[in-house]
Amino acid sequence: MKDVIIACDFPDEKATLTFLQPFMGLARKPYLKIGMELYYAAGPQMVRKIKESGFSIFLDLKLHDIPNTVKRAMQVLKNLDVDMVNLHAAGGTEMMRAALEGLTRDDGTRPILIAVTQLTSTSQDVMTKELLIDRPLDEVVMHYAKNAQSSGLDGVVCSPLEAGKVHDVCGSGFITVTPGVRFAGGEAGDQKRVTTPGMAAELGSDFLVMGRPITGAQDPVEAYGRAMREFNQQ
Ligand code: C5P
Repeated sequence: MKDVIIACDFPDEKATLTFLQPFMGLARKPYLKIGMELYYAAGPQMVRKIKESGFSIFLDLKLHDIPNTVKRAMQVLKNLDVDMVNLHAAGGTEMMRAALEGLTRDDGTRPILIAVTQLTSTSQDVMTKELLIDRPLDEVVMHYAKNAQSSGLDGVVCSPLEAGKVHDVCGSGFITVTPGVRFAGGEAGDQKRVTTPGMAAELGSDFLVMGRPITGAQDPVEAYGRAMREFNQQ
């Protein structure tokens, strides 16, 4: 069964726990994405509490610093017992290898580690004029994905529309975690290029990240169930 990760883009612990309450009765609790806003507001205690309630957690903190600092930060995160964490591939292969080292527990287990290639908010124009990277955006994204793979990482965050190409370049076992997903006929909001859960599955996404179509639904448990069924093409 492939997972739909619910993006818990809430401002604080209270709002998050209120949202999660109806999910407590599910036999298989959802995967949740906790990003910078909530982590900085509510901290590691809240992550532990949610994890202890049986949810899986993708901690979306996008680390990017010198290798030693990232390694030491990952050593702290590994003790939170989360299931997936990420970093910026732009930090380079030495940083990514250091991150993996820091994240690996004494028994050899570790959370899934994925990379952000280029943020979807970075356009070709910004890349060329501000960052002075003169290659096509698509080539840079695939190159960063290959760097992540050669550093030992498990996958990347990308659009469902890029998932097939990432698999062509890095192999089918390299994980694609894909936001920008909406139900057919739903509001796109600020997402520019959206796909449905079923389309994302056909395009090869391994994990979906869905926020507002679930968090803003009248019945979030029902919306999550629908996303899971469509993504798993049941
Ligand atoms: O509400 P929505 O479904 O648009 O939420 C998508 C989630 O995925 C948000 O938490 C957003 O920050 C995240 N995300 C994204 N696009 C990326 C990377 C992360 O939408 N390229």
